[in-house]
This record gives sequence, C-alpha cells and structure tokens, in this order.
Amino acid sequence: MRVLSVVGARPNFMKLAPVDRELAKRGVEHVIVHTGQHYDHGMSTAFFEQLWLPAPDFHLGVGSGSHAQQTAAVMQRLEPIVVELSPDLVLVYGSTNSTLAAALVAAKLRVRVGHVEAGLRSGDWTRTEEINHVLTDRVSELLFLPSRDAAEHLAADGIPADRMHFVGNVMIDTLTWALPQALALDAAARYGVNGAPYAVVTLHRPGNVDDRSVLRELLVTFERLARTVAVVFPVHPRTRQCIRTHGLRLPDDGRMRVLEPLGYLEMLSLLAGAALVVTDSGGVQEETSFLGVPCLTVASSTERPITCTHGTNRLVLPQRDAILAAAERALGRRSPARPVIERWDGRAAERIARVVCDDERFEVDAPQAATPARTPRRAVAIPQPLGAG
Ligand code: UD1
Repeated sequence: MRVLSVVGARPNFMKLAPVDRELAKRGVEHVIVHTGQHYDHGMSTAFFEQLWLPAPDFHLGVGSGSHAQQTAAVMQRLEPIVVELSPDLVLVYGSTNSTLAAALVAAKLRVRVGHVEAGLRSGDWTRTEEINHVLTDRVSELLFLPSRDAAEHLAADGIPADRMHFVGNVMIDTLTWALPQALALDAAARYGVNGAPYAVVTLHRPGNVDDRSVLRELLVTFERLARTVAVVFPVHPRTRQCIRTHGLRLPDDGRMRVLEPLGYLEMLSLLAGAALVVTDSGGVQEETSFLGVPCLTVASSTERPITCTHGTNRLVLPQRDAILAAAERALGRRSPARPVIERWDGRAAERIARVVCDDERFEVDAPQAATPARTPRRAVAIPQPLGAG
C-alpha cells in the first residue's frame, strides 16, 4: 500500500508525525510531500527535526502569496506527482490552503482522500480555514474526527456516517509523545521567566492581526498584562509583518519577552509551565486544555468548542478590558487534574492506521441531518465570547 501525505504549514507537521510513525510500524510506503507554504527554518524544518519526521520526499516550494496563488501553485505542482505515484490514499491535515489544494487534486484524479481533523467548524464563513475545512471534508472518503461533535457538522453537510471515523486528536498523540523531552528543556529558565508565574501569548489569525486598530488594541493589552505577570510572546511572521506595515511597535516592557517563533518542544515546555495562555491558535487551545492550563482565546467563535465545554478555554473578544479582566480571573486557576476528553489519549494515529490498513471502523453515533421540524441535537454547546459584542 502506498499512502501520500501532503503538508505545508506549521500546524500540519504535528498532525503528520504520529501518523507517519504508525504507518512506518506497519510497513506502509508513506510518501511525504511538503508544499512549502511555510518555509522559514523556525516554521518548518525545526519541526521536522524535533518531531523525528523524515525529510519530505518532495518539496513543492510554493511559498507565500494570495489564497488563490498559494492554492493554485500547490495544485499545479502536486498533480504530476499524484499522477506518477498513483497512491492508494492521499492524507491531508487540518484546514490550511495546502490541505484544500491537495484534497482537490486527489479527488479530481479519483484518488481516495483521507482528512485528518475532519468536521471542525467555527460557523464563521469569513475565515479561510472554515472554507478549506468544509470543502476538504466534502471531497474526502475517509473522515478522521478528533471529537464527537464533528460528526454532527458532517451529517449536517450530508456526509454519510460510514465515512466517519471517530479516532481522536492526533495533536494530543504528538503532545504525549513529546512532553517528557519538552519538560526536560525547562524553557521557562531559558527565556528568563522561571521562578514566578508567567503568561504565554500567541497571535496570528488574520481577524486579529490584519486590521490596524484590532492589532494595536491587542499589543497594548499585552503590554498592560506584562505589568501584572511576565509575558512570553513568540511572534508569528505574519504578525511581525503586520506590525511593520501598520507602523506599530512590538510591546517592549521589562516583563515582556518578545521572541522569534519557537520550536515545538520549546513551546510545549513553556505552555506546560504557564499560569495563563492568551492565543488565537487552534492547536494551542487543544494543548492547554489537555495540560490543564487556563487559556483565553481571542476570537468570537472557535472550531474547537470542546476545549471550552470540557477543557480550560474561554473565548474573549479583542478588547483590552475584557481580556485583562478575564486574565485576572484566570491567572493561577490551573486545574489540579487534567481534563479528560474522549479519545484524546495519544492513540488517534494508531486508530487511523487501523482504518487505513485493516479497514477497521471507529463509528460515532452520528445524528441524522436534522429535519426542519426537529431541534438539532448538539453534542457540544456553542461557547459565547467574553466582552461586549
Ligand atoms: C497558515 C494557515 C493557518 C494556520 C497558520 C499557522 C492558511 C490559509 N492559513 O496561516 O490556518 O493556523 O498557517 O501558522 O493556510 N511567512 C513567513 N515565513 C513562513 C511562512 C509565512 O514569513 O515560513 C509570512 C509571509 O509574510 C506570509 C505570511 O506569513 O505571507 C502568512 O503566511 P501564510 O502561509 O499565508 O498563512 P499563515 O498566516 O501562516
């Protein structure tokens, strides 16, 4: 059996790593294609090294560009590879432009597509990831669900239950695999925030960084937060670029550590020891939930509501007063015990391999698409953000 995985952006790599290990255990020929959507060492190669991923078999060198340019370039450069290798299955991960582009190429060549992290929805159609997620799910034959609520979204889009496999969260596979190494790094000491409570801040979503006034409000908020607690802020390249083009400046308080993007192990080490995390990253919402670290997500909605209902996450709008008030309440409220979320157990990739190699099924009791007369059952309540709308 030949499986071809397509990845391109930072959050794809953490999802690929455990799947690659499981397929290797079973002797599956696993071809890795890197689209090159992310290309800085700290956004790409560092992750391959730390996650013990083999170097990609193909590198498409797509780089940055508009959504159409990036998606089209991946499609054009990937198509001849899929034609030549004729894989039994193409695996795609998450909801990046690389994910959708690869799914479209494979589906149109009538190659089976497997979507790792299927069925997540924010309900916010202005987000590119929402478009990518819905369309990728639609053309996939194997849908690997990280949480039970995903089945409801897929059913509502008319996807039959027999395509869905509730395998759990591959991000947590990587986290559990890496945690001992990450803790041994003691990143808090390395970045000068050991010995006292500290917060970790990350920011990259277009809704938070592209608009000057929103970005300015958030930077001022982080500066203010740094008066109460030490803040570590690894800055995503997109955010750094927006700060520059908007003529803003990075927060520069004594208790603020502004850093380049961190490696996976350094970031995990910092998250594990944090008193508070303020973020807009989907992966960080999951990681903090698993670790029991209070998390404030700067957004009006999340595609991972289970992190609010079962984990440590709270949504908050990008408003200074709302964030600072929520931070004050959350600081130090670390859960004594880690929340338990169904099938976030470090074995999601093993289940994926069992589906791919042994045709096993991991069924979820998917509700039928709701008829207009009935109120749809919700597996997870919709969280509401803090702050005035
Ligand atoms: C992408 C994904 C997003 C994911 C995020 C994680 C899409 C539409 N978005 O967003 O879902 O949460 O990755 O990081 O696929 N840049 C660099 N070096 C790099 C990569 C990017 O400097 O290695 C800069 C470039 O200026 C680029 C900008 O960051 O234009 C944005 O990169 P892009 O890949 O378009 O989207 P992300 O914001 O990273």
